[in-house]
Amino acid sequence: MPSILSNNAVVSSSRSSTAQLISSAPRCHNPATTAGNTPVLWIDQPFAPPGRGFWAKLEGFNPGGVKDRPALHMIAAAKERGELRPGARIVESTSGSFGLGLALAGTVHRHPVTLVTDPELEPNIHRMLTAYGARVETVSEPDPSGGWQQARRERVQEILDATPDAYCPDQYHNPDNITAYAPLALELVSQLGRVDILVCSVGTGGHSAGISQVLREFFPHLTLIGVDTIGSTIFGQPAQSRLMRGLGSSIYPRNVDYAAFDEVHWVAPAEAVWACRALATTHHASGGWSTGAVALVAGWAARTCDLDTRIAAVFPDGPHRYFDTVYNDDYCAHHDLLTVSPPSTPDTIARSADRIVSRWTRCGNVVDPIQATEIMRPRMRILP
Ligand SMILES: Cc1ncc(COP(=O)(O)O)c(C=O)c1O
Repeated sequence: MPSILSNNAVVSSSRSSTAQLISSAPRCHNPATTAGNTPVLWIDQPFAPPGRGFWAKLEGFNPGGVKDRPALHMIAAAKERGELRPGARIVESTSGSFGLGLALAGTVHRHPVTLVTDPELEPNIHRMLTAYGARVETVSEPDPSGGWQQARRERVQEILDATPDAYCPDQYHNPDNITAYAPLALELVSQLGRVDILVCSVGTGGHSAGISQVLREFFPHLTLIGVDTIGSTIFGQPAQSRLMRGLGSSIYPRNVDYAAFDEVHWVAPAEAVWACRALATTHHASGGWSTGAVALVAGWAARTCDLDTRIAAVFPDGPHRYFDTVYNDDYCAHHDLLTVSPPSTPDTIARSADRIVSRWTRCGNVVDPIQATEIMRPRMRILP
């Protein structure tokens, strides 16, 4: 009798009946159902000392990464509301992950997909998007103030204006990008039983808002830590050119739930590279810029909080996309990303406006930069 693999242990099929061998592993009739139900992995040293650590939610186990869930949900919801007509073209600006999700949603719901991206998109992701059937358009110049992101969004608008019935999900401002993460939150409840601290990277703000909202229904004491990149405007720093992709933004996405955050950390590219590479060598579970940055911050939380604090951190994707950047020695040497010793402690600032940060820095006073400006304006008017 042949031997077979079950849960990675070899068992002899002569000793097992068919019924015994039927497992609970998912059997999918539709690619949409391959997304979700991702594992959690315990991460400890070198991020935290022995006995301490955090749970990483491995969203890289989805076919395309963390954005499969919102893409599938947003397209289903738009169809349901009649905003997306049968067979109409989906058009969106993306730095990669959401494009992979939309390519999946386009296949599942039978819609053509156009993705507007920029020259910094990794070539292998560009090819994958095309292979999955999406049309990929690349803008050639960044907007002078809004950067690549703004240039991409303007091109999306041009395509929408020229294409009858075309639909843009608008991941930055569409509330469905938040509600899409309710299942992920429920998975964390069932996998971990309790979550005290949630650590999320922030780009559109979707997953931090969506997961924390649902988790707080179960655990009202939940602390939410946001992780951004240096050079991002989201939490009130001035826009600068950014090496890290996925997290960070040069606009102010409406989906960022500022009130939900207890603190924000900005991380620099070299610090994220150190964390990504340390994750890969010690846990065989790594990812890109956002995963490295989140791991660094979650490890710090595990070192500094009470021993029984249960920490969950979302790892948005796996490492494959980053072999020419984070895991490429020439790239990292060129950008001076390999020289840091393991970062251990963030700097602290009282308010984001205090100074422009250039290394790992935390701030416990999270405000919406747009509202802060609006509050300042009338005050400035009454000053002499
Ligand atoms: C790899 C990666 N990490 C993190 C994020 C940030 O997630 P969110 O947009 O839900 O804030 C994104 C968003 O595109 C991403 O692609």
